[in-house]
Amino acid sequence: MTALYAGLMSGTSLDGVDGVLVDLSHGCSLQAHVHQTFAPALREELFALNRPGGHDELHRAAGAANGVADAYADVLAALLRAAALPASAVRAVGAHGQTVRHQPAGRGYTLQLLNAARLAEAGGIDVVADLRSRDVAAGGQGAPLVPAFHAAVFGRPNEATAVLNLGGIGNLSLLPASASGSVRGFDTGPANALMDHWTQQHLGQAFDADGAWAAQGQVQTALLQDLLTEPYFEAPPPKSTGRDLFEPGWLAQHLARWPGLKPVDVQATLLALTVQSVVQALRRHAPDTTVLRVCGGGAYNRRLMSQLEAALPGVDVQDTGAEGVAPGHVEALAFAWLAKAFIERRPGNLPAVTGAAGPRLLGALYPA
Ligand SMILES: Nc1ncnc2c1ncn2[C@@H]1O[C@H](COP(=O)(O)OP(=O)(O)O)[C@@H](O)[C@H]1O
Ligand SMILES: [Mg+2]
Repeated sequence: MTALYAGLMSGTSLDGVDGVLVDLSHGCSLQAHVHQTFAPALREELFALNRPGGHDELHRAAGAANGVADAYADVLAALLRAAALPASAVRAVGAHGQTVRHQPAGRGYTLQLLNAARLAEAGGIDVVADLRSRDVAAGGQGAPLVPAFHAAVFGRPNEATAVLNLGGIGNLSLLPASASGSVRGFDTGPANALMDHWTQQHLGQAFDADGAWAAQGQVQTALLQDLLTEPYFEAPPPKSTGRDLFEPGWLAQHLARWPGLKPVDVQATLLALTVQSVVQALRRHAPDTTVLRVCGGGAYNRRLMSQLEAALPGVDVQDTGAEGVAPGHVEALAFAWLAKAFIERRPGNLPAVTGAAGPRLLGALYPA
């Protein structure tokens, strides 16, 4: 049986779709990677659907789910072309979908838009989708789901290692030094989402390349402390978050208390918020960490990486490229890996991370 899997991921940054084709028979051997941005109209619609209260949301969400499926199908086709492989060579696709609501608490739910039937029809490959809902149904956060994969790929026997994914939202995986310790993990808060928003608003650019703009500003300590009073940062794990909480209105509410700040200084402060939320989480939950490996788009932000390194003396801070895995590939690889777990009927969640009542099979199958 072939162990070739595809992973398709689009995160809260809404920067587009990352796809990988990977051989998971022994370890994790990348065959192809493709990134494609969302068409501007689809991106706008997905942003709009992240906010409650729009007109005719059900109809629009269904249309957007078709759009996400078509974008995923394009990436899948490009992956097969890049690897010169037929669809029949791929055992299954793990397809995340686009999160537009994430409210796992209580009788909660998490909603990833993706018409998986449409993707199965277009791609001719088994699709494993809706990978978060079962964990939420079992009382879990449904997130983060990547720590098990991080442990498999980045764990070290004698070193307390943390893996930090800097997407729109940040999440940490805490990998113990000894085999007897358990893997932990949680979302840290905003990573790129608010910086992207602020850069779009003031520079008309999708993101602050290399953190160059932030590097020109002065961190506003009072604003930073105010932002850090958000109870989410202090809340104990299990915890996860999204654009539901850390959205432009959240920032605007805080900024209203500090009128007259220069945009460039706000950007510097938002970068410092990403750094400090991570540093505080590490201090509180994994003070013995000696190795930090960073992935996600934020790993390409040189200012963010250098500030993280400066704030964590004694910790070996590098992006996951140091382990042979490009930072932009990690999340998509994790969803290929989760698809394999589903196909082999192995649980994908870590109850110690998500708070679910127990290990669960994650995903729903849309056969080719
Ligand atoms: N060269 C770069 N400089 C600064 N930020 C970057 C760079 N490359 C990517 N990013 C950031 O990474 C984000 C995309 O990261 P990604 O891991 O795909 O997040 P998500 O999983 O939320 O989609 C972009 O929105 C941007 O903020
Ligand atoms: Mg992305």
